[in-house]
Amino acid sequence: MTNFDTPPLGADGLPDNPERRDFLEKGTTALGASTLAAACWPYIASMNPSRDVQAKAVTQVDLTGLRAGEVRTAEWQGKPVFVFRRTDEQIADIRTSRSKIDPAADYERVQKPELLVVVGICTHLGCIPNRKGEGWMCPCHGSLYDNSGRVKRGPAPANLEVPPHHFVDEKKIIIGQV
Ligand code: FES
Repeated sequence: MTNFDTPPLGADGLPDNPERRDFLEKGTTALGASTLAAACWPYIASMNPSRDVQAKAVTQVDLTGLRAGEVRTAEWQGKPVFVFRRTDEQIADIRTSRSKIDPAADYERVQKPELLVVVGICTHLGCIPNRKGEGWMCPCHGSLYDNSGRVKRGPAPANLEVPPHHFVDEKKIIIGQV
């Protein structure tokens, strides 16, 4: 015989009550989420950049005394950055040429024709190119870059990277910020 007056029992042995069940489910979910967040917090916090790294995210380069034809090397995020003040002849020469490996016009790579700013890391396997003739040569496998940092001869597959930067004034560049 079926007793219609007795409500069905829940998993906890108490009469089943949909409102009570909802409350318990929501409460359990909320508690689980906050416990998980608390447990993960040290890990999440460790993913934030340290103060050291944040300080190096932006580098200011003083151009005082940098003459035409000279390169100044700065450090940005642990990488060398070449700031090259080009002569009028070098600008005229570079404006009419392109790389066959990674074509890019010089004017797309510089904000001021006389100042090239590039990350000094070879795009092949990461060696630091040396100034050589009218450009840079990588000592590891011989890649050549021109005075716009464009690859002229491989095995490097791409031009030297132009980092985000902007000119504060005639004598200062901030690298790491557009
Ligand atoms: Fe520069 Fe290989 S790392 S050519």
